[in-house]
Amino acid sequence: MKEKSRGTFNGSIGFVLAAAGSAVGLGNIWRFPFLAARDGGGLFLFIYIVLALTFGFALLTTEVAIGRKTKQSPLTAYKKLHEKWGWIGIFACIVPFMIMPYYCAIGGWVIKYFITFLTGSGKEAAMDGYFGNFITGTTEPVIYMVLFLVACAVIIFVGVEKGIEKTSKVMMPILFVLVVGIAIFSLTIRHTNPAGEVVTGLQGLKIYIIPRLDGIGIKEFFRILMDALGQLFYSLSIAMGILIAYGSYMPDDTNLVRSVNQIEIFDTLVAFLAGVMVIPAVYVFMGPEGMSSGPSLMFVSLPKIFAEMGVLGDIVGTVFFALVLFAAITSGMSILEAVVSSFMDEFKMTRTRATVIEVLLALIFGVIVCFGYNYLYFEVKLPNGSVGQVLDIMDYASNYIMMPIVAISTCILIGWVLKVDVVIDEASKNGERFSRRGLYVVMIRFIAPLLLGILLLMSLGLL
Ligand code: PHE
Repeated sequence: MKEKSRGTFNGSIGFVLAAAGSAVGLGNIWRFPFLAARDGGGLFLFIYIVLALTFGFALLTTEVAIGRKTKQSPLTAYKKLHEKWGWIGIFACIVPFMIMPYYCAIGGWVIKYFITFLTGSGKEAAMDGYFGNFITGTTEPVIYMVLFLVACAVIIFVGVEKGIEKTSKVMMPILFVLVVGIAIFSLTIRHTNPAGEVVTGLQGLKIYIIPRLDGIGIKEFFRILMDALGQLFYSLSIAMGILIAYGSYMPDDTNLVRSVNQIEIFDTLVAFLAGVMVIPAVYVFMGPEGMSSGPSLMFVSLPKIFAEMGVLGDIVGTVFFALVLFAAITSGMSILEAVVSSFMDEFKMTRTRATVIEVLLALIFGVIVCFGYNYLYFEVKLPNGSVGQVLDIMDYASNYIMMPIVAISTCILIGWVLKVDVVIDEASKNGERFSRRGLYVVMIRFIAPLLLGILLLMSLGLL
């Protein structure tokens, strides 16, 4: 078969929005606000931003540079860098392969809630047991999962420029406007609680942004640091091959470091705004104890809050789930692309064939994930102390074990085996200034692998 020329993004904006689309996902909306509210408000925000500018910057730059330099998919890029280190590529490709099925299952839940609110049935979603009944159903979750998968597949099928880039250019700006809109609305909420006190959104905002330092000793500080690190790592979509794939489509003449900075700013800003959107609303209607994270925040608490808002609730709920859907689709398609590009490069497949094969595989595993709540229900205790079923096990294995391994190995390969100039030269090949060189070197060689090692040991329950 004739080898087709590799797709590319049209320009740096397309690349930045696509990568930001991958980065901005469910984690920004359902986990970041919770961690910030729990971990000392402004203190968490401060630590997170410092980590983003150091740790995040170093890892993000590395992956994008590997992609652009090798012009290869995650599966084949590492092999091209160093023959003996090709195995990292296999890991880096297994991660998105594992994430795709359960990301689609959750994406399906988002579609379901979006439709529920859009059709004016938001109040039903606020009833006790609604979410549990839905996910334990045997057909509905599968149908919605397939819908989400097909939506991502169509975009990837169309290709890099017309699919990924165009979609990101439309969805990301809209997402941003919607987040800002709901965040402003959230700040204006006033509500009289059962004790007769008037609680306002601005009071909730204070909990979020004012640093709380009382009672924070070394141990507590360390815990917050690791929370922020884990969140950042996941939020930037690092170590799942995605940034290598997207980096390989980045035009050679774009400014890599500047693009990386823009991705980080976008991702962090949306995470911050998600906090402004969620925390005041939860605070006003549920009090400071109402904050939770993950599916229970998004699919249980927030619908109850929307119901409290009366007529406005259905509108705010619809807008909210629309923006979550955009966040999920742009992340979902990036996961799919990481695998599809790997199949294309390794097995010299066409985009069509690679997409069809990966979609069928994701479909089979996606059904297994959905059935994890009924036919295949079982629970196991995970090494990090939490209890989970199929979805949680896949999430644990990919995010907590495989991703740190990929990232640590990448740091060792670049920092010690190949030397950092591989990345720095790539990033400054058009004469750009690489001003944080010293920081980059220290991060990749020492600090990042150390922090990631601690994160891995903690995930394994060894620390
Ligand atoms: N980075 C995304 C977030 O913050 C999550 C994600 C996971 C994206 C897996 C792509 C792949 O939610």
